[in-house]
Amino acid sequence: MADLLGASLSLGWPVFLFLACLLVYFQFSMSDPDKRRRAQFKTFIGMLAAAMAFIAIANYKLNFFGNSRLLPVSLVMITALAFMMGLYFSNMSALFKIGGMMFLVAAGLSGYGNWLPQVEGGFPPPEVKLDFGSMSPQQLADEGEKIIFGGIGQSKVQGAIGKGQCPLCHGFNEGFLSERAPNLFGIPERAKKQLEDPRYHKGKPGDRDTAQKEAFPGAGTAETGQEYIAESHACPSCYVVAGFGVKGTNDKESPMPAIHKPPISLTLGELAAVDTWLYVREGKEAPTFEDITKAYEKFIPEADRPKPQEDKPAAGAGGLLADGSEPLDQIFAKAQCVVCHTIPGIPGAVGTVGPKLVEKTNAPTRIKDPAYKGSAKTVRDYITESVISPSTYVVKPFPDGVMPKVFGQKLSAGALNKIVDYLSQLEEGKVPPKI
Ligand code: HEC
Ligand code: HEC
Repeated sequence: MADLLGASLSLGWPVFLFLACLLVYFQFSMSDPDKRRRAQFKTFIGMLAAAMAFIAIANYKLNFFGNSRLLPVSLVMITALAFMMGLYFSNMSALFKIGGMMFLVAAGLSGYGNWLPQVEGGFPPPEVKLDFGSMSPQQLADEGEKIIFGGIGQSKVQGAIGKGQCPLCHGFNEGFLSERAPNLFGIPERAKKQLEDPRYHKGKPGDRDTAQKEAFPGAGTAETGQEYIAESHACPSCYVVAGFGVKGTNDKESPMPAIHKPPISLTLGELAAVDTWLYVREGKEAPTFEDITKAYEKFIPEADRPKPQEDKPAAGAGGLLADGSEPLDQIFAKAQCVVCHTIPGIPGAVGTVGPKLVEKTNAPTRIKDPAYKGSAKTVRDYITESVISPSTYVVKPFPDGVMPKVFGQKLSAGALNKIVDYLSQLEEGKVPPKI
């Protein structure tokens, strides 16, 4: 709000001042008291209208790219403005009233669209069951881009993320520095070279020097680049790219979740779509859908393959990750917290990218840290602040900028409240509360 006023002032004050001087000058040049009173009234209306115009414009400038729910406010202001101008120029009053009505309708419509939660464009995406097997490579690649980034063309958009959650950790653009996980540009070529790494132990899964030696007992090792990619997705700890293992495990354990398992739970068809995109976007010919599926069957036993029916619709690019009506463990899964954090009592929350969230123990120590510059006084406040504004205090030794800064917009107040409630009860060394 302060930003808004600031921007409208800096934008408008010179014009505003000029108008005011002009109007005052006109008034004093009038002798008839009746005329003068009307002129004074008009001055007042005129200045109010000008102020509203500037605020409306500033609101647009500030919030247009933020996908903000404040946008209709601008339209409402312009509506009021049009009616006021009708008063001001009485000879064109009808014209202004018509214009005003049009803006009113526009404001109403966009307000309706903007205030609906969840969806872009006002309507939930239709739930179509996709038949990945019968798609062309380009269609399959498009589906892959949707799964990774949330929509077609979104791979070019900074911060875009889909249900696959890969951009949480991986960079995808050529030359882009990717510190948490290997940059996936060039993976189709690199995959073949990885098989030659002595640490990969081609053909002898039992010899692998990693936390997990094979995807499941009897699973073969990869023979081709595509199989390497499939194995990386199904069993990240089977082979850990040097330098990217969980800290302290000497690259024996990977921080990447197996992406066919909860919370990501991609089906074989979806995995094939993701892989196809990795090839197609580099202009490379992708293996066929059948070959990719076969590769995954080598690393994911039948019982572990998610069924397409269980598929839950992913949040759209502009939608909420969780609305608060879900059970607690699902809120943590849908909001992706589990990928990065270990959360006692939440199944599958074994991430190691960020700190273990025993906040009843952690929060008081953080607040006492002389480096703490936030405003939290209580455990609850500290958690809320950490989720909405992760950079306010960065927990050592983790780097800043890893935890997404979108949760303030992507979680409903109800979901956030449930998260804070639960985390504030977690204590190091104590049994977590029942969920
Ligand atoms: C929580 C972070 C995280 C997420 C989410 C994640 N990855 Fe990874 N991924 C890693 C790390 C770290 C490595 C390197 C260690 C290893 O080899 O497992 C890796 C390795 C890989 C590799 C092998 C790379 C190479 O150079 O050999 C591929 C392929 C891959 N990931 C694909 C994906 C895809 C596709 C997704 C999304 C569906 C994904 N990852 C999601 C962290 C992540
Ligand atoms: C991509 C990884 C990632 C995701 C996803 C993520 N976090 Fe974090 N989080 C981190 C990292 C790294 C830190 C430590 C650095 C910092 O403070 O920013 C952190 C810090 C925190 C802290 C402060 C912990 C402490 O002990 O002081 C809280 C609380 C927290 N995260 C909660 C959440 C919640 C709740 C979610 C899901 C809504 C979430 N995080 C999602 C990576 C992540």
